[in-house]
Amino acid sequence: MTKDRRSKGWYGKLDKDGFIHRSWMKNQGFPDHAFDGRPIIGICNTWSELTPCNSGLRDLAEGVKRGVWEAGGFPVEFPVMSLGETQMKPTAMLFRNLLAMDVEESIRAYGIDGVVLLGGCDKTTPGQLMGAASVDLPAIVVSSGPMLNGKYRGKDIGSGTDVWKFSEAVRAGEMTLKDFMNAESGMSRSKGVCMTMGTASTMASIVEAMGMSLPTNAALPAVDARRMALAHLTGKRIVEMVEEDLKPSDVMTKDAFVNGILANAAVGGSTNAVVHLLALAGRVGVDLDLTDFEIGSEIPLLVNCMPSGKYLMEDFCYAGGMPVVLKQLQDNGHLRAAKTVLGGDITAYADGAECFNEDVIRSFEAPVKPAAGLRVLRGNLAPNGAIVKPSAASDHLLEHEGEAFVFESIEDMKANIDREDLPVTAETILVLKGCGPKGYPGMPEVGNMPIPRKLVTQGVKDMIRVSDARMSGTAFGTVILHVSPEAQAGGPLALVKTGDRIRVSASGGELELLISAEEMEARRADWTPDAPHYTRGYAKLYIDHVLQADKGADLDFLVGKDTRPVTRESH
Ligand code: FES
Ligand code: MG
Repeated sequence: MTKDRRSKGWYGKLDKDGFIHRSWMKNQGFPDHAFDGRPIIGICNTWSELTPCNSGLRDLAEGVKRGVWEAGGFPVEFPVMSLGETQMKPTAMLFRNLLAMDVEESIRAYGIDGVVLLGGCDKTTPGQLMGAASVDLPAIVVSSGPMLNGKYRGKDIGSGTDVWKFSEAVRAGEMTLKDFMNAESGMSRSKGVCMTMGTASTMASIVEAMGMSLPTNAALPAVDARRMALAHLTGKRIVEMVEEDLKPSDVMTKDAFVNGILANAAVGGSTNAVVHLLALAGRVGVDLDLTDFEIGSEIPLLVNCMPSGKYLMEDFCYAGGMPVVLKQLQDNGHLRAAKTVLGGDITAYADGAECFNEDVIRSFEAPVKPAAGLRVLRGNLAPNGAIVKPSAASDHLLEHEGEAFVFESIEDMKANIDREDLPVTAETILVLKGCGPKGYPGMPEVGNMPIPRKLVTQGVKDMIRVSDARMSGTAFGTVILHVSPEAQAGGPLALVKTGDRIRVSASGGELELLISAEEMEARRADWTPDAPHYTRGYAKLYIDHVLQADKGADLDFLVGKDTRPVTRESH
């Protein structure tokens, strides 16, 4: 034993407890010297065949192990709950906090000194980071990486984004159901996460900008051999991080969060980043609120990827990836000094980055769109805020006043949206209730409700939609999301009636329900919440303790961290 490492409390003891910890591990064929006091590195894996986006993580874990052994550490891989965005009902978001608990308690209970987080699909990255931040052992991320570009009939098609487009085309009678079904296999043709700038690649880009992964982690395709090399290098680096005692709280400072927000604007990232960063900040103890996201609102859209642009993640990688974006931010005086997992400053990720395709990664002088960051809206309809993503919206709808058409629930919306006699026009504002954290529960990605069929067939491609839901990072449209407080928590959204007028101003940051305060109070006196959809198990715990969207939808008792050593033995 050279150092007083955390793992010494398990494997360095010359007594009955040490015997138990070592002997049972030796049943896997580990030699004595694996327990000689070297850093023990957990590899926290969200691999699962039910999370197709993370199905490559078994291979990447082997790459991490090579690096850990090479650097003189001892790698031990362990599974945690995996969240498959496209497979879980009612929504993977319901389980993000459960994954975070699984990660936190696994790290804390086992005799490891540092951890490599293997995630990728939307909720897996924030869930793992939240859990790791609450224990605060040295930690670093390796992401799944995006799938190869989707292909259909000789054209590139993007995960999610083209599903929404194709399904509207089918509803408008412009695409046959057979062609629609045929596009399935071409869209997803390798391991990896959605290859649009959806939530997975957004979170990986933010993680890189925050310095929690090695450079180039966000964009390298899942099946590119260089990702395996990156996993190897990450395994080497985590051993050094343990020696340096470089912890998540040293890296994820307020400045790092600001860099993440700026990067999110520059890449045209997902609105989901908002709830994830707010929750993560709550874990690390960084003071971040919705207003901080306005720091990014003047940043131009640089990365020309779907859903806000036209290319895909493979193109972004070959153009130079996140280091180029960081260099642009740095050259234009936006990037803040912040420590990374390499121990130096984030500027080291940007230094020397070269852009190989200036249409894919634009400059500040020739952006895809100016001022692309998210806008925060407030008003009597969203006292605690709501958000909209201008880069994915229609400019003419960002300042608009119109009549509301209200759906009281997701079932109401699905049953009625395609009614030929639905009394709506392109100017109508569609309102959906009951899709917030408590209401659904789990705040699903349904905020981008379909355009009513009667309008789709007239050629209407976008209209304002307002809800307490989220939307997929691959989705687009003038969609106002995360209205807080949500309807089920008694927010004013619950009180909107069909025919009310609503005013939206993205430039003014306004979301107003144009009724009097007296009328609002009268309606409130009449209102009662719906009975909860779940009355037992984790879902009940979630409904009883989830915070609202403007606080990141974490569970109230999970905010913060507990870094105390675990002293009591198992036997
Ligand atoms: Fe898993 Fe998009 S569904 S990354
Ligand atoms: Mg998603």
